[in-house]
Amino acid sequence: MSSLWIDTTNELDQSKSLGKDLTCDVCIIGAGIAGLSTGYYLCKQGLKVIILDKSYIGTKTSGNTTGKITFQHNLIYDYLINSKSEKYAKAYLDANKKAILNIKNIIDEEQIDCDFENQANYVYTTKQEELHKIHKEIQALHILGEEAEFVTNCDLPFKIVGALKENNQAQIHLRKYMLGLANCIKQKGGEIYTNSTVINVKKDNNEYITFANNYEIKSKYIIQACHYPFINFPGFYFSKMYQSTSYVIAVDTHTNLFGGMYINPHEPIYSFRTAKFKDKRLLLIAGADHKTGFAPDENKSYKLLENFAKKHYPKSEILYKWNTRDCISLDKIPYIGEFSSLLPNAYVATGFNKWGITGSNIAANIITDKILGKENKYAFVFDSRRVEPIKNREEVKNMTSQVFKSFISNRIKIPHADLEQIKNDNGGIIKLDGINIGIYKDASGNIFAINPTCTHLGCLLTWNNLDKTWDCPCHGSRFNFKGENIYDPAFKNLDKFEIL
Ligand code: FES
Repeated sequence: MSSLWIDTTNELDQSKSLGKDLTCDVCIIGAGIAGLSTGYYLCKQGLKVIILDKSYIGTKTSGNTTGKITFQHNLIYDYLINSKSEKYAKAYLDANKKAILNIKNIIDEEQIDCDFENQANYVYTTKQEELHKIHKEIQALHILGEEAEFVTNCDLPFKIVGALKENNQAQIHLRKYMLGLANCIKQKGGEIYTNSTVINVKKDNNEYITFANNYEIKSKYIIQACHYPFINFPGFYFSKMYQSTSYVIAVDTHTNLFGGMYINPHEPIYSFRTAKFKDKRLLLIAGADHKTGFAPDENKSYKLLENFAKKHYPKSEILYKWNTRDCISLDKIPYIGEFSSLLPNAYVATGFNKWGITGSNIAANIITDKILGKENKYAFVFDSRRVEPIKNREEVKNMTSQVFKSFISNRIKIPHADLEQIKNDNGGIIKLDGINIGIYKDASGNIFAINPTCTHLGCLLTWNNLDKTWDCPCHGSRFNFKGENIYDPAFKNLDKFEIL
């Protein structure tokens, strides 16, 4: 099922596929919120910009967000002060505050109708033992000079113990905003080509050649704003990020709803906001996060959210449900700036950790400034080449062990099943003559067989019966049951087997 945002923006945009060789100043790979925001600012500066995307505008990660615009990225500032420094935390805060203003300015200046609504943001807890974390975060915000209020009441339909409240945050219909940005880019001379999968980028003296749809784009600068950088070397972003899947439902509660945006700090995470829908408002409930590639238990994904809705709103009617993936950096800070010291004039924006709307605007400004040769006072916070020791050891340990397990252990622990052991409307891996074969049987028993080796860096895929996809536990690529790539960093389809 598509998201509320995609379903309520009825055109899949008017962009066309790349159909000839072209030359430009900047080639941007990815027409998500980061690519479009950067393209917008660069076009405003008079640069010739071409944006390529393998899908339609805003139909991947950006079209599946919750659309919250806030600098309060759950609990972050106490962590930043302690793991980095006060100066660093302050710059992170100011960069995100500026991003909120920038987005509002673009909406006003370009008159983009995108349901922008000023809202208070709450980080709440229902657990007494968690309350001290809320207080520590408020204290951190006060140190940084930010007003942050502690409240014990809010409009949620259940009792909370306490919450951090920040005023003047916002929510948005992100795909409307993105389609508005795309129109602005085209009006300012930029070009956007969708259904144009980039398969390679080569450096040739002082220019880059980007290959897509059997055509070439020559440019002085390239920007990878494609959610997960698909160029593996140099850069090694696959070794410093993982992907997280989360679920969203949009519910008609048949009651009056509350204002504000809400999130709790720890598992299971529940995030709430409301959204305009026809002549009413829907309640959006998001959460149930897990590392992408590890088959979700249905009871811990949509069902968890649906049960929550039914408990608090017995008349609930689920109108939309969808899932999304986010790139999570190891130190919780996005990677923005130079792709690698070895590749001049190549930039990257990724690792937004579920807070990609403000993050994308920050990235757009930093990269634009770098291309124009201007200093950006927030660039040091997000430096994509940072190599300082990673303090979030637990995250590193988890990722390393899981990648190792998938490369080695999963390959020798594959159960020996035969075709009959895979039920209809289900999938799994069997071994025939020592070769792994991924099998999906549809409801009628038709068989779809693929090579379950990820086309990114070769990890063994796992079957996700909730979405009927093959998912990669290493870096989060996903493929449909026919083996067609649907999510990066892989971009090639899986090999298919014919079962005789
Ligand atoms: Fe990297 Fe699959 S996504 S190996």
